[in-house]
Amino acid sequence: MTAGATAVQGGRWRRAWAAIDERLGLSGLAYPVPAHANGIGYILGGITFFGFLILAVTGVWLAQFYSPTPSGARESIAYIMNTALFGDVIRGIHFWVANLVMATVLLHMGRVFVTGAYKRPREANWLIGVGLLGVTLGLIFTGTVLKWDQEGYEALQHNTEIGELLGGFGFWFTPEFTTTLPIVGRLYMAHVVILPALGTFLLIAHFLLVKRHGVSPLPAVADAAVEGTGPAPEKGGSTFTAHLVRMTGFGLLILAATAVLALVWPAGLGDRPNPAIEVTKPWWMFLPFYPLEDWWGLTALLWAPGILVVALILVPFVDRSPWRSPRRRKWVIVIGAIVAITLIALALYAGLTPPAAHVQEAAG
Ligand code: HEM
Repeated sequence: MTAGATAVQGGRWRRAWAAIDERLGLSGLAYPVPAHANGIGYILGGITFFGFLILAVTGVWLAQFYSPTPSGARESIAYIMNTALFGDVIRGIHFWVANLVMATVLLHMGRVFVTGAYKRPREANWLIGVGLLGVTLGLIFTGTVLKWDQEGYEALQHNTEIGELLGGFGFWFTPEFTTTLPIVGRLYMAHVVILPALGTFLLIAHFLLVKRHGVSPLPAVADAAVEGTGPAPEKGGSTFTAHLVRMTGFGLLILAATAVLALVWPAGLGDRPNPAIEVTKPWWMFLPFYPLEDWWGLTALLWAPGILVVALILVPFVDRSPWRSPRRRKWVIVIGAIVAITLIALALYAGLTPPAAHVQEAAG
């Protein structure tokens, strides 16, 4: 192609882009963001978001075949695994991305905690984040029950017991709430409508506040500005479009990695539920509470997460110094590390000990 022809074609592309941009305002997305926003620590939230998009798309595919009834649920999963078009690999991606999203949510929260990014003026966004953590855990819990195998059934038994422990507040979680729709149908509705709707609402608020306040400056830069030994933190260095491109790159990597995982280690399906036995353990994110249930009974499943949630809510209101660097917030970091190490140790302990019956004992 001659130089003239290339220039004409280049001109066409530019005109096409200008015409699209005039209507959609896409160039408005190229607003400045700090260069460190593209570093791995600061892009974890974006990766989590991309993971949720993958979950939504794969979930819609699975919903074409899933039957939310006690008699049909497990069989419809078997159908997805053995017969439905791409069923096995799509289900595997859904399963592995759910695990990964949980990990990136925790890492994202850890980054925000270590860099003190929950401090003024971002306290509200931390609280919205705590809500998002709850929604993520709720999605994983309800997803486990939907399988309606031994693991799902035992998770449901815990759901029911906790509902009963909560008394009047827990009525929704028990099968007695209504006789017209089995509880698996209501948990399915929670999994595909209530929790995604709540999550979407919280995510919109989360992103609007990130846009409003900007990504927090690096801790050392923020501290120097407070001390007056450094300049005010820079607002630019990169653009939001560059950030989106990077986030998409990481997201596609996750998609590829989970597709491989789905082929190598497909998501499993346990036996038909036997209500007389209790032999499974929960997923890794719920494991830290498993030994507590061994030691203190089912009520531990109420008070232990309750204490953690209250502690998380209090974080921005307790750590009120202007400093962001971890070395200037040693006691906060030490307490956070003790909590994290305790939870990991409890999960490891739970993973290594044989499964125990909890619900049966409570009932007996
Ligand atoms: C469901 C999952 C979540 C998604 C998709 C998400 C997404 C994001 C994104 C994209 C950002 C922009 C910067 C970054 O990526 O680090 C962000 C910032 C933030 N997130 Fe989340 N988030 C989630 C959960 C949480 C949780 C669990 C918390 C804490 C309890 C939290 C607290 C914050 C705070 C305080 C900021 C501002 C941080 C800063 O400016 O440095 N988020 N979030």
